[in-house]
Amino acid sequence: MKIAITGKGGVGKSTLAGILCRIYATQGYKVLAVDADPDANLANALGCLPEISSNIKPISHLRELINDRMGIKVDKSFFKLNPKVDDLLDKYSIECFENLKLVVMGEVKKGGAGCYCPENTFLKNFFSHILIDQKDIMIMDMEAGIEHLSRGTASFVDAIVVVVEPGQRSIQTAKSILKLSYDIGISKIYLVGNKIFRKDQICLINNSFVGVKLIGSIFYDQEISILEQEGNSLFDSNLPIIKEVDNIRLFLEDII
Ligand SMILES: Nc1ncnc2c1ncn2[C@@H]1O[C@H](COP(=O)(O)OP(=O)(O)OP(=O)(O)O)[C@@H](O)[C@H]1O
Ligand SMILES: [Mg+2]
Repeated sequence: MKIAITGKGGVGKSTLAGILCRIYATQGYKVLAVDADPDANLANALGCLPEISSNIKPISHLRELINDRMGIKVDKSFFKLNPKVDDLLDKYSIECFENLKLVVMGEVKKGGAGCYCPENTFLKNFFSHILIDQKDIMIMDMEAGIEHLSRGTASFVDAIVVVVEPGQRSIQTAKSILKLSYDIGISKIYLVGNKIFRKDQICLINNSFVGVKLIGSIFYDQEISILEQEGNSLFDSNLPIIKEVDNIRLFLEDII
């Protein structure tokens, strides 16, 4: 199962992705956490120690490797559409916790909509082909906004979870994401409300979208930022967000 977590900047994508990964890993799933945001900070949201995460090499920086696998050295005007990728996961992921590996995608060349630049093709192939077993889970923490969807970097996922705050700007971005996701053929798209202050804000989010399921909500909790500032792991806290994300995980298991 491959899930991409998207939404407007700062809505809580990495926070949700980090906790979801940790929950699945403790349940015995093999989890691949993918940091697909050029401004990578999923390692931190996972609670992965800096000593460990600082050793990660972003895949997109491995230019020589990409060139080699894409056949660019042979002929610059032609590159393979199905480069060999299946051996790369062990080399370029780091095991942060038991059952949980982290891969960092790094900066992807921004070629605009429909860009078939070698880097994008390589990364798409990489993430399309690495999964393995039906029981394994890949969770991608996406870059904010919609550009990555027009580049197709998430076109191979089984489901998209859009994180929404109770505000019009976040709702508008979510609507653009929904449209683009349907356009690229992803039909399993779900919403998660975050930073909710009052219960009626859950209705506001729900009523703003027709035909898209809101699979859970997370209340605003200032302890979350405090833990983050202190560098403490959110997953190891007993804050309500852990139960709230676990409920989201239950929904995902039922529908995917
Ligand atoms: N429910 C919540 N209550 C309070 N603070 C929260 C909550 N969820 C997330 N935050 C805080 O909001 C900030 C942004 O969260 P996060 O980094 O997860 O968002 P993001 O969508 O990944 O951001 P970006 O677009 O920059 O990648 C963080 O400081 C995080 O601790
Ligand atoms: Mg983030």
